[in-house]
Amino acid sequence: MGDLLFRNVALPDGRRGVDLRVREGRIDAIATAVPADDGAEIVEGEGRLLAPPFVDAHFHMDATLSYGLPRVNASGTLLEGIALWGELKPQLTQDAIVERALRYCDWAVARGLLAIRSHVDVCDDRLLAVEALLEVKRRVAPYLDLQLVAFPQDGLLRSPNALANLERALDRGVDVIGGIPHFERTMAEGAESVRILCELAAKRGLRVDMHCDESDDPLSRHIETLAFHTQRLGLHGRVTGSHLTSMHSMDNYYVSKLIPLIAEAGVHAVANPLINITLQGRHDSYPKRRGMTRVPELMAGGVNVAFGHDCVMDPWYSLGSADMLEVAQMGLHVAQMTSQSQMRACFDAVTVNAARVLGLDDHGIAPGKPADLVLLQAHDPVEAIRLRATRLMVVRRGRVLARTPPATASLQLPDRPPQIDWSLRR
Ligand code: FE2
Repeated sequence: MGDLLFRNVALPDGRRGVDLRVREGRIDAIATAVPADDGAEIVEGEGRLLAPPFVDAHFHMDATLSYGLPRVNASGTLLEGIALWGELKPQLTQDAIVERALRYCDWAVARGLLAIRSHVDVCDDRLLAVEALLEVKRRVAPYLDLQLVAFPQDGLLRSPNALANLERALDRGVDVIGGIPHFERTMAEGAESVRILCELAAKRGLRVDMHCDESDDPLSRHIETLAFHTQRLGLHGRVTGSHLTSMHSMDNYYVSKLIPLIAEAGVHAVANPLINITLQGRHDSYPKRRGMTRVPELMAGGVNVAFGHDCVMDPWYSLGSADMLEVAQMGLHVAQMTSQSQMRACFDAVTVNAARVLGLDDHGIAPGKPADLVLLQAHDPVEAIRLRATRLMVVRRGRVLARTPPATASLQLPDRPPQIDWSLRR
């Protein structure tokens, strides 16, 4: 493995003009004018941003790239997506799931996305998707961290065998316990499913990540129950509420009590901006609700908030390309997070905050950490989001995994430069 020296790069914390040296797969030095080791590849950063890898805190890799199978979602709703997935499930083969997932991981690596938490449906007695994604996890392990969540898509209590299948999936090596309380038959059964799953996590020493309150119903309050059981069982920092879209529609007074409860329990929140803006508000005429959870308010309340991609070309969403900067850009717009510090917080939501959700302690840029790095064609995190910047170089444990040439265009205009420059020089 050849060592690397990045010259004149910017870091997400605002440092500029520094060199970063990689030795034996780890970050060895960050300073000005660091000497290169013999034989090391020298990368001229030209002031560009060297960031830690992107992390996707919420994805569905068993369904990805299945768009159009067996048909497309005509209404565009979450519920038709779930029904459509139910139609597709009997036709799935393990080989096809593996092939699609590996293809998606190729896209991810090219985009500098090197850690993904994927939910995997456990409501199929064959556990076909579980077996497929466990194989994918093994195969991508040298270059991508894939964390799997046992997800009872059809409801833990609503679907026969769901609890038994979920436990079988955990026994086979699935990492995290999932849930979907708003899809159970009643609010009471939803709350009961949260209790059962949190107790199972406490017993097994595992993390929890539930699809929670993914609806426009302001009375869907399972996040309150999730925070309660997290607190009761001492699961602080190990539990995540994904989506939380009902919070968008909740009464403001109730939310003023709820956010401190979430923060007190150390529950992470994951918003999925592309999917929330697409699926929520479908029963509204005008005005239409945006549906995304209250990201800036949760952040201001001390809750760790990450953004997830959720879906790419599947029964719920027809677009996407593993680009977490697209996710951050949508989150920024939907939440109106337009101040400098808020835009930077949107970059954090697809990097460090998401790493915290997954419990990736080694993520980040500091001497001694693994050399997992992405060189972007941008000078700071805000410019990276604005341009959805090209990932010039993607590095894992000091090894270059992907290179992409810079995006440019030749201009043929009178009295103008021949090459376009997308940057506003400061
Ligand atoms: Fe999801």
